[in-house]
Amino acid sequence: MRLAVLKERRAGEARVAATPDTVKKLIALGLSVAIEAGAGLQAAISDEEFAAAGAQITPDAATALKGAGILFAVQAPEPEVRSLVEPGTLLVCTMNTFGNPELVPALAAAKIDGVAMEMMPRITRAQSMDVLSSQANLSGYRALIEAANAFARGFPMMMTAAGTVPPARVLVIGAGVAGLQAIATARRLGGIVSGTDVRPAAKEEIKSLGATYIGVDDEESAKQTGPYAGQMSEEFRKKQADLMAATVAKNDIIVCTALVQGRKAPVIVTSEMVAAMRAGSIIIDLAADSGGNCADTVPGETITTANGVTIIGHRNWPSRIAVAASQLYARNLLTFITTFWDSSAKAPKLTESDDIIKGVLLTKGGQVVHPNFIPAAA
Ligand SMILES: NC(=O)c1ccc[n+]([C@@H]2O[C@H](COP(=O)([O-])OP(=O)(O)OC[C@H]3O[C@@H](n4cnc5c(N)ncnc54)[C@H](O)[C@@H]3O)[C@@H](O)[C@H]2O)c1
Repeated sequence: MRLAVLKERRAGEARVAATPDTVKKLIALGLSVAIEAGAGLQAAISDEEFAAAGAQITPDAATALKGAGILFAVQAPEPEVRSLVEPGTLLVCTMNTFGNPELVPALAAAKIDGVAMEMMPRITRAQSMDVLSSQANLSGYRALIEAANAFARGFPMMMTAAGTVPPARVLVIGAGVAGLQAIATARRLGGIVSGTDVRPAAKEEIKSLGATYIGVDDEESAKQTGPYAGQMSEEFRKKQADLMAATVAKNDIIVCTALVQGRKAPVIVTSEMVAAMRAGSIIIDLAADSGGNCADTVPGETITTANGVTIIGHRNWPSRIAVAASQLYARNLLTFITTFWDSSAKAPKLTESDDIIKGVLLTKGGQVVHPNFIPAAA
């Protein structure tokens, strides 16, 4: 069976869905691997490296897809590439189904079996295939590096003959995978760091990284025991807003990472809070793609407010650290295909009763099979 990997075509996407290391392992499973020329360049992988690992380099997408049974991608291919995919192909990628509602029916119509890697259930067995975690971790790191770059004062306290530079004060909002890595990176750079979250489990994790925990501890937050936070009530949001109003302006750098699965990101930093910050402060909004945790974030842009606060709202943070992000993402995909590999048939076997497959398989044999996307009967 042939597996294809193409150049990512969406604007701002620098990652690639395979590396020379994963190509070797895919070939060891019994697959042949075809890679479109230039697919790895933005992630610092040359065609020669892919070829040395055993891949066939093809001049274009159509040639890579000819006879392919599996397509690995970072983001779901756009319609013009999808039209080149042969019926019956297994497409493994991130689908962004909330931002792209026509995608699932289109995959079914094209008889492409679609696996949405971002829908991986958060169970122990699936951890090594969890693309949200692998990419969020790197995003959290990268966010801090960009904050440090934009902040014109420096992170650690520096005592010099010419005077003392105070340490940067950093507040991280949302202490999930990205937030915890942001906290750890800010600490390594020498900042004074605090973190907030609604899940009680996050409290100890924040403290264990040497940061100060700030949060609303009430009955509602005590119930946030799952891996994802729920949408919080108006009453909770009011308490959190009071706490943030007293906290945000005391910090130089705010890193926003709070997300609620399948919904718009909660707005936690209001325009009034931004207006109260000192000139030169930085807000990094990792939630920009989901609307942003800061009311003044402009998704995809960096802006400076009238009072001199820079708000960075980049989309696609993992792509800004594309070499490492591709390495981990490609590993996640390799683990997925290896886990569901039928070695006698030398083909993947996606058992639909398996919890992982139930979570990620959107379409099969021309039908929408995921309960979230099956159209309601008329
Ligand atoms: N396989 C597994 O078991 C598995 C895999 C991945 C993650 N996890 C766990 O799940 C947790 C969250 O993962 P994530 O980073 O992907 O989450 P996420 O990206 O969905 O959200 C980021 C963080 O924002 C927080 N948040 C949401 N609303 C908020 C609000 N109003 N105010 C403040 N914070 C708010 C969430 O609690 C979360 O910690 C982590 O603790 C992680 O360890 C488990």
